[in-house]
Amino acid sequence: MITIKNLNKVYITPNGGKITALKNINLNIEKGDIFGIVGLSGAGKSTLIRCINRLEEPTTGKVIIDGVDITNLNIRELRNARKKIGMIFQHFNLLNSRNVEDNVAFPLEIVGMPKTEIKKRVSKLLNLVGLEDRAKHYPSELSGGQKQRVGIARALANDPKLLLCDEATSALDPQTTKSILALLKQINKTLGITIILITHEMSVIKEICNRVAVIERGEIIEQGTVFDVFSQPKTLTAKAFLNRSAYELPDDINVNQTANRRLIRIFFPRDSARKPIISRMIRMFEVDVNILAGAIDKIQDQTFGTLTVEITGSKKQVSGAINFLYNENLEVEEVRKSG
Ligand SMILES: Nc1ncnc2c1ncn2[C@@H]1O[C@H](COP(=O)(O)OP(=O)(O)O)[C@@H](O)[C@H]1O
Ligand SMILES: [Mg+2]
Repeated sequence: MITIKNLNKVYITPNGGKITALKNINLNIEKGDIFGIVGLSGAGKSTLIRCINRLEEPTTGKVIIDGVDITNLNIRELRNARKKIGMIFQHFNLLNSRNVEDNVAFPLEIVGMPKTEIKKRVSKLLNLVGLEDRAKHYPSELSGGQKQRVGIARALANDPKLLLCDEATSALDPQTTKSILALLKQINKTLGITIILITHEMSVIKEICNRVAVIERGEIIEQGTVFDVFSQPKTLTAKAFLNRSAYELPDDINVNQTANRRLIRIFFPRDSARKPIISRMIRMFEVDVNILAGAIDKIQDQTFGTLTVEITGSKKQVSGAINFLYNENLEVEEVRKSG
């Protein structure tokens, strides 16, 4: 549905300096995806999502939505294309002088929808986001979660095919975040709207996305299904987003590997996280196992685990134990440094 091809964005600062915010971004987003883009602050997430509806002009590259390269559209064509792209923001961007129903009506007034139709549409939208009893309230009288619900209703007013979410839950507490994410998921399912969401919060990605890209310093460094990227991250950045307890080792840990002592990280894919593999290994090879860090995690009903252990024993015992892990089809990686 959306193809981003060789997208680059360079900002020119007032004193003539150049900031490369996006470097050669290539992404494919399928219809019906809830596609997450995760990265640290300043990584280029907002720039990327804003290039999709040209709130930011890409410096070079293409953004193709349903076969149309939106970077080629003139202002009038772009205005039309944008009707099919809704957007929600971290700080909601509501009009404070308008009440809830008039905020949601705003995009419909702009396209010249007749008043009676607007009324019907707004009431349907408020129903969808669970705010039918708040229609006459002003933004200042609403909680953060309610404000974001208004934002979502407004974003859906023109019946978009695509919803862009820029840190939509980052100003909300964990409980409210969950309820907003549940609403987004419901919208994706029942209305078939493709969602692209950017966030610095790994938990948001795990909660609702099916696919994810990790962005670092303007570049996509990993992408794939949420399960694959987070159960076996390849880069340090992706690892840093994971449950840190699985990766962080004490600073003073000795990472020198010898034949009698190996420091390894074991990845337990899917349901093997439930099998007693470690205890079997200890019994069979009579090695000592010292657990240094670990976590069992669940993404979209699939369990996986990561365990960092020190295995000691004779050379033969240690190598036998490690071969056993390989034979159990576990991924094993040598720990080189903490983190
Ligand atoms: N309008 C702008 N002018 C100059 N630099 C900008 C502008 N907007 C963003 N940047 C810079 O581009 C980089 C990416 O910013 P942004 O996309 O906002 O990151 P994120 O949303 O991941 O925090 C940062 O270095 C930021 O300072
Ligand atoms: Mg941002």
